[in-house]
Amino acid sequence: MTASSGKHSRTSNGKAHSTSEATNMIRTAIYTILDVLVFLGVSLGYCIQDWYFMIFGMPKKSLKGELALVTGGGGGLGRLLALRLVRAGSSVVLWDINQDGLDETTKLVQSIGGNCKSYIVDISKKEEVYKAADQMRKEIGDVTLLINNAGVVSGRVLLDTPDHLIERSFNVNVMAHFWAAKAFLPAMIQRNHGHLVTIASLAGQVGITKLVDYCSSKFAAVGFDEALRLELEYLGVKGVHTTCICPYFIQATGMFEDVYSRWVPTLKSEDVADRIMLSIRRNEKLVIVPSYLKFMLALKWIFPWGCIAGFLKRLVPDASPQHGVQPTETKAMINNNVPPAPLLHRKVKSDLMCNGTNNESIGINGPMNVSESKASQTTPILVQRSISVGERVH
Ligand SMILES: NC(=O)c1ccc[n+]([C@@H]2O[C@H](COP(=O)([O-])OP(=O)(O)OC[C@H]3O[C@@H](n4cnc5c(N)ncnc54)[C@H](O)[C@@H]3O)[C@@H](O)[C@H]2O)c1
Repeated sequence: MTASSGKHSRTSNGKAHSTSEATNMIRTAIYTILDVLVFLGVSLGYCIQDWYFMIFGMPKKSLKGELALVTGGGGGLGRLLALRLVRAGSSVVLWDINQDGLDETTKLVQSIGGNCKSYIVDISKKEEVYKAADQMRKEIGDVTLLINNAGVVSGRVLLDTPDHLIERSFNVNVMAHFWAAKAFLPAMIQRNHGHLVTIASLAGQVGITKLVDYCSSKFAAVGFDEALRLELEYLGVKGVHTTCICPYFIQATGMFEDVYSRWVPTLKSEDVADRIMLSIRRNEKLVIVPSYLKFMLALKWIFPWGCIAGFLKRLVPDASPQHGVQPTETKAMINNNVPPAPLLHRKVKSDLMCNGTNNESIGINGPMNVSESKASQTTPILVQRSISVGERVH
């Protein structure tokens, strides 16, 4: 082989290479265009389906024969949902840390002929969730409808929120959703039948002052629902649905009883419970209550921050008025230029609040009083603190 023929073959190789590269590029471009066209066509189909449902109503599934687990079923929304679920023909299991609340709900459910069992479970503790799930599976069967409803709120500005309350917000409002899903999803996937409901909040869509830990845990819960739904679709699991509920403030459940809200009226808990039931029966994905607030959320991504902040400050001037009056450390820092306390010192304060450990539950009548009295001897932040209704944790 001569040098010139080697050169020639290299040139023809190079030409062949560039031809195949060009063919690949054209093929990729055609695939991408086709993919975009398919996406647009399917999206249009979904929009038309949605408009059709809006006009003629969405199909509703029956909840007869489902085994529903409602966390936080000892009161508030959880109790209202339990009553509606048994009326719809489901059997209900309740988890809560409030024994009296559980007894009351069980009595009410049984008084209307419902099938109901309750367990004391502190869902902020992974081991308790797994243990209770195993016990339930043995005693009753596999859960087919999981309603992650239990929630807590601390209700104070971030720097006045003891560490353990921030951890508690995350443990109850979102981490527990992971543990419960891991416990109950496998059986749902196996049967290709199930429904996971995340009771998040509108505070999982927008930030609110004094709710930094609450909002961020609820944002996480919203993300949990959306990513899990997409993952189930990716895995080809068609029979397991997820629904995320984001209500505005609700009256009469206790959690945000004294919230100062303007422009949008606070919701009736019965109406919210009805809306949740409807959304489960319709397999809805994301439910904003009231629904007209969807438009506000859409505007959030369009308008400058000043407009959004102005709106939110007017909408909820104070999410937790009972924590707005004491001379807090944060205010002192802002007004008097007092240097912040070392973090270690703060941790000691929050540990005192927690009766010795960072993971313990606290209650109005129980350890909270003891730790409050201890804390009040040593910690100025907490001296005048009244217990948030959201801390009605026993
Ligand atoms: N009340 C509102 O204005 C409002 C608004 C939007 C969203 N939400 C959400 O709705 C859900 C229900 O709230 P609600 O208004 O009925 O409040 P609620 O305080 O009446 O009920 C919460 C229930 O959760 C239970 N709970 C708390 N910590 C627990 C734990 N570690 N383990 C097990 N159970 C625990 C409580 O004992 C209580 O029974 C919550 O997730 C809340 O964040 C409430």
